[in-house]
Amino acid sequence: SRLVVLVSGSGTNLQALLDAIDAHPGGAEGFGAEVVAVGADRANIAGLERAEKAGIPTFVCPVKDYGSREEWDAALTEATDAHAPDLVVSAGFMKIVGKNFIDRFGGRFVNTHPALLPAFPGAHGVRDALAYGAKVTGCTVHFVDSGVDTGPIIAQGVVEIRDGEDEAALHERIKEVERQLLVDVVGRLARHGYRIEGRKVTIQ
Ligand code: GRF
Repeated sequence: SRLVVLVSGSGTNLQALLDAIDAHPGGAEGFGAEVVAVGADRANIAGLERAEKAGIPTFVCPVKDYGSREEWDAALTEATDAHAPDLVVSAGFMKIVGKNFIDRFGGRFVNTHPALLPAFPGAHGVRDALAYGAKVTGCTVHFVDSGVDTGPIIAQGVVEIRDGEDEAALHERIKEVERQLLVDVVGRLARHGYRIEGRKVTIQ
């Protein structure tokens, strides 16, 4: 499968995918997927540097460069489509895509979120779980639908919250689980194919 990965920040989830593909005895063929491009909503982020270091084409679509959110969504859709992805992976992409993108890639667009959806959706899932006093949190890999973090869940990983832990420390411990979960899920989706029926995801 051809993967396009969307990032907005450090790109450690992207790096986990790249490392897993490189480490696979059969390479991209064996893993079942290759990252053919990396897209971002902003320049000068580590995620783009990681792609460049790996010799992977990148594209940047800053919202402020477009006359409207809808025009940005259309541009992001075209920039992504130019790489003919089989699967699009949002790995720390911090923008909500619009109708153009979902119409084009819905059903083959996964996101990773640092909380146990449906708990704590949105841009501050780690902070919200901590503030709520939750005892466990974790991460969720799901298909993206037209809502915010509401699509069918593929897999989840649980992380205990430690007393007095701050957001950064908790987020780093979540990311250790999240990176493994994302690599496992993307590899299985790519190698075995899958079906989505309502909220149920079946990986063949
Ligand atoms: C991940 O925890 C992702 O779930 C969240 O932001 C983080 C991105 O981390 N949306 P990285 O850019 O992959 O290091």
